[in-house]
Amino acid sequence: MELHQISGSIAFKFGHSPRHAVIRMTGTPEFNSRNRMFIAGMGFVGQVLAQDLKNQGWTVSGTCTSSIKKKKLEEERGFDIHLFDANQPDVTSTLEIIKDHTHLLVSIPPVPGIGGPILQNELRLRRALMGGNLQWICYLSSTSVYGDSGGAWVDEDYLPNPTSDVGRLRLAAEEGWLNLGQSLGISTKVFRLGGIYGPGRSAVDTIIKRGALSESQRMRGYRRFTSRVNVQDICQALKASICTSSSR
Ligand SMILES: NC(=O)c1ccc[n+]([C@@H]2O[C@H](COP(=O)([O-])OP(=O)(O)OC[C@H]3O[C@@H](n4cnc5c(N)ncnc54)[C@H](OP(=O)(O)O)[C@@H]3O)[C@@H](O)[C@H]2O)c1
Repeated sequence: MELHQISGSIAFKFGHSPRHAVIRMTGTPEFNSRNRMFIAGMGFVGQVLAQDLKNQGWTVSGTCTSSIKKKKLEEERGFDIHLFDANQPDVTSTLEIIKDHTHLLVSIPPVPGIGGPILQNELRLRRALMGGNLQWICYLSSTSVYGDSGGAWVDEDYLPNPTSDVGRLRLAAEEGWLNLGQSLGISTKVFRLGGIYGPGRSAVDTIIKRGALSESQRMRGYRRFTSRVNVQDICQALKASICTSSSR
């Protein structure tokens, strides 16, 4: 396998401009076409990564919560989609499907009162994954785990100290996935993302659509600086992580 380096790092500071905000990847990663990616949460990031991997010969499956979206993703994009809603108690079939894949991206946010969907069924998940094909797990987290740094620089070495409920749920989900992956001997990563932007998703797009700014978009107006990441950069970093992770 060809190895690739991500030059630079993501660092940010609440209240100051980032020292390094650009992820660059050299070369094109080589992927094994027998690889099978399962994306729990075919949202904005999930769909961009799914298309990218599909173009490179991967088999890609994933989840969404509505039949209309499932039909659209299957018929227009050619993905294999399963309905999954954290609020529905029976997730057995989803767990069974995950174990047939080599890679798992978890892109569903924690749900208040439930926590990390999928992970809430940890015992069944663990049983399903034991002896399965999974060799890489990635949990998409958020910078909300850091809480308020009071203006200090925040990077991967900064100790998380979430001040919001959602930040606390995120941190618990991170720990849950890392512990599960470690105990099963599966390479497990956590990416803490800032505000995601990309085609069709920005304050400018909202204005063009003549929609109202979201709460987080309005909040950015009150801050001097904010942490943002482009969806393509996230996918580059995810692919680099896949390439550099050793299988079990
Ligand atoms: N957007 C940001 O600025 C930002 C910043 C930091 C971290 N993050 C996190 O990074 C990840 C990827 O972001 P994104 O913008 O791609 O997210 P997104 O577009 O909102 O997609 C989230 C996915 O999770 C699914 N989902 C939501 N609630 C669910 C539930 N209760 N049960 C089952 N599935 C559920 C959605 O299903 P449907 O497809 O049916 O809608 C969707 O597929 C997410 O976890 C997000 O919270 C986002």
